[in-house]
Amino acid sequence: MRSVLFTAAEGLPFCKSGGLADVIGSLPQALLAQGYDVRVVLPLYLPIAKKFRAEFTELATYDVHFGYFHAPATVFEKVKDGVRYYFIQHAPYFERDAMYGYADDGERFSFYQMAILEMCKALDYFPDIMHEHDWHTGMLPVLCKEKYGWDERYRNIKHIFTIHNLAYQGVYPKEVLESCLGLPYHLYESGQVRFRDCISFLKSAVVYADKVTTVSRTYAQEILTSYFGENLESVLELRKEDLSGIVNGIDTTVWDPKNDPYLPYPLTTASNRAKNKLSLQKRLGLRESKDTMLVAMVSRLTWQKGLPLILEKITDLLANDVQLVILGSGDMSFENQLKGLEYRYKRRVCFYCGYNEELAHHIYGGSDLFLMPSLFEPCGISQLIAMRYGCVPLVRETGGLKDTVQPYNEYTKEGWGFSFTSYSPDDFLYTFRRAVDFYYDQKEDYQRMSKACMKVDVSWEKSAKEYSDLYSSLL
Ligand code: ADP
Ligand code: GLC
Repeated sequence: MRSVLFTAAEGLPFCKSGGLADVIGSLPQALLAQGYDVRVVLPLYLPIAKKFRAEFTELATYDVHFGYFHAPATVFEKVKDGVRYYFIQHAPYFERDAMYGYADDGERFSFYQMAILEMCKALDYFPDIMHEHDWHTGMLPVLCKEKYGWDERYRNIKHIFTIHNLAYQGVYPKEVLESCLGLPYHLYESGQVRFRDCISFLKSAVVYADKVTTVSRTYAQEILTSYFGENLESVLELRKEDLSGIVNGIDTTVWDPKNDPYLPYPLTTASNRAKNKLSLQKRLGLRESKDTMLVAMVSRLTWQKGLPLILEKITDLLANDVQLVILGSGDMSFENQLKGLEYRYKRRVCFYCGYNEELAHHIYGGSDLFLMPSLFEPCGISQLIAMRYGCVPLVRETGGLKDTVQPYNEYTKEGWGFSFTSYSPDDFLYTFRRAVDFYYDQKEDYQRMSKACMKVDVSWEKSAKEYSDLYSSLL
């Protein structure tokens, strides 16, 4: 059986900050069904250690020499639903309050990547394919070729690098190359790992991986342009032949509207949706009214997600008979503005500042419209979940939003969402008003859209097959 090792910095059910964790928590299971032995490696963060440590088996402890440093790593294992998970422990690096965002991230993730390669030796496990996700493990293809290349067990590994978000690149001072990774300076001078006068983990992966993928077909095209390319468009252009887009799916057992332990009423009838809405309004301190349109957003609060469009038009949006619930955390300026809104529009706006998995389920299952007017969106998991729960999405036509939300056509009655093209507050407002009009005046169409959403195939089945074909092409 061919073996694939997923390398990432987060993954469900162990840790999550965004959609990357959803993917790492569900794609491996779908690939098992395609006949691969899929394993996943993650750092052993403090919350994982606290919650799961008792279920882990300790496999090995070894020294990791990385650049000028060396430190011990201990690897633990847990098998879950047929997938073997490895956790790399080194308390000073990973047992902190957050997963990333520290000044020494370059050092921490250099250690992590070297610890993964040393783990292969310690366990005598060399996968056929290493499937690296995002910048945190982007130096692995470089290390396998340039540092471990003399050893054919490493040299023979094929690398697939998946870009989940080009906006985060892991850019560090060039000294990190030698001091933390033990790689020769000429790789910087020749340009392979260089980004301006620094090194970039993500760019390096794009240069060195055998195949590069991203998480939707549209984003794969968009990143070749300067608008979306984050200054890497010319490097991506060079790898165009090896670059493809495979759209994300979701875990349809965790996100099962008919059988969701976090939903007060299973979504088996339209009246249960209204009951979920009423209980959600009560829970959030909104005026209880099953007929009022409830608009929702569950998101990291960053400029990526289109919050400026919402904030600029908030008075016009709330001039309609709607309520708004936003669950999220992130940039302080957005958090503060949303707190102000909640204060200004009592019982009509609720801002839940923070991360709350359980509340997210309730929101998806009790709201009428889901907002995702992103500036850019590699794929988007939230709109897929919203659709599965019959909550109609309103999106900007970019990246995966364009690939997964078909706008409703009132004449042919096809489609299941609302969308607009240009990143303009007026276009957003126009589309929002259109959704409100449908909700109140064309109820049958709105119901039809909601039902159509629930029928869209958001599972991994088709995309897992595409990954499997890509793996086969390399083996
Ligand atoms: P991104 O990865 O860019 O943040 P995605 O749409 O791909 O966006 O994935 C976001 C994931 O994180 C979804 O599963 C969404 O439900 C979840 N999520 C985002 N913010 C929160 C929050 N505050 N509480 C609970 N879940 C959240
Ligand atoms: C990133 C992207 C998001 C995508 C997720 C999983 O966080 O912002 O669009 O869905 O990764 O691939």
